[in-house]
Amino acid sequence: MAAPRILSGIKPTGRPHLGNYFGMMRPGIEWQDRGDAFYFIADYHAFTTVHQPELLREYSRGVALDFLACGLDPARAVLFRQSDVPEVTELAWLLTCLTPMPMLENCHAYKDHQSKGKVPSHGLFAYPVLMAADILLYDSNIVPVGRDQKQHVEVTRDLAEKANRMFGEIFVVPTPSIVQTTATVIGLDGQKMSKSYGNTIDIFEEEKALRKKVMGIVTDSAAVEDSKDPATSSIVALYRLFAPESDVALMEDQFRAGGIGYGEFKKRLFVAIWETFAPFRQKRAELAADPAILDGILANGAERARAVALPVIERVRRATGLR
Ligand code: ADP
Ligand code: TRP
Repeated sequence: MAAPRILSGIKPTGRPHLGNYFGMMRPGIEWQDRGDAFYFIADYHAFTTVHQPELLREYSRGVALDFLACGLDPARAVLFRQSDVPEVTELAWLLTCLTPMPMLENCHAYKDHQSKGKVPSHGLFAYPVLMAADILLYDSNIVPVGRDQKQHVEVTRDLAEKANRMFGEIFVVPTPSIVQTTATVIGLDGQKMSKSYGNTIDIFEEEKALRKKVMGIVTDSAAVEDSKDPATSSIVALYRLFAPESDVALMEDQFRAGGIGYGEFKKRLFVAIWETFAPFRQKRAELAADPAILDGILANGAERARAVALPVIERVRRATGLR
């Protein structure tokens, strides 16, 4: 059997944070040894919100650098920019014509936007269809994402199955892959960590900024001597992502025992985060020093991505009568 095609994307709407790392980047990096991995910088998706050209370019390069620094190996995985294969927008149009409006009205990004009283653009409404096109254009089998993206992969499956019933087997039906232990990473305020909530810790945070953010994690008002509940603490939830099980167990015991203040636990968390990413910081600095390295990786990625995408779009055009 051929190796499974693994595909995932990340939107360049800012600097990647711990939620992105544990929810999508690290699982993606682990998958690169188990199949034919394709990862892309979803700049068309970012354009639903980022309308400053320089910023969009800067974020796109930054996300690619972060991903590479964290261990994505361009020799094993294909790293490319979504907009380098513009055929994806053609496929998105074909799919959008098969998509019932109510299916999209149910999707959470659109619903959240509406519930805040904002007027969503048509692009934001159609966001899951473009994502379906991303997945189907590369005959993807497995899609590693955080839990919040599961709904979108389900829309993709529905659309692929519908198209296959209508036009014959033109699409591979994908499966989402969600790492349960890191399904949702908690942010500084105890909600889901997300760029849109302003509660993130970035992977490549400066030392001072990281310290400040960790020290600012919201806690209850328990005094030093009080017993504290580890089960509801964001400090423990984040520490668990970085520290070995025995260190986490020790912190939990010390929470319950009382006698140590939150500040002390936060310092421990800070050290764990800072040390985990130390080797990646070094790698990122090396990559960032020569922009030609990233240019080369993205150009090569675009070529390899196109080699897969072009026959698929041609197959779809023929089956649908557009050729
Ligand atoms: P954001 O919510 O900050 O805008 P994105 O939507 O760009 O993040 O997410 C990129 C990837 O990171 C997706 O696969 C998403 O599921 C994952 N992800 C984002 N935030 C979290 C989180 N708090 N916990 C787990 N995974 C997350
Ligand atoms: N929508 C995803 C997010 O907000 C990013 C993304 C775009 C994606 N296209 C994709 C993820 C295709 C997986 C597969 O995080």
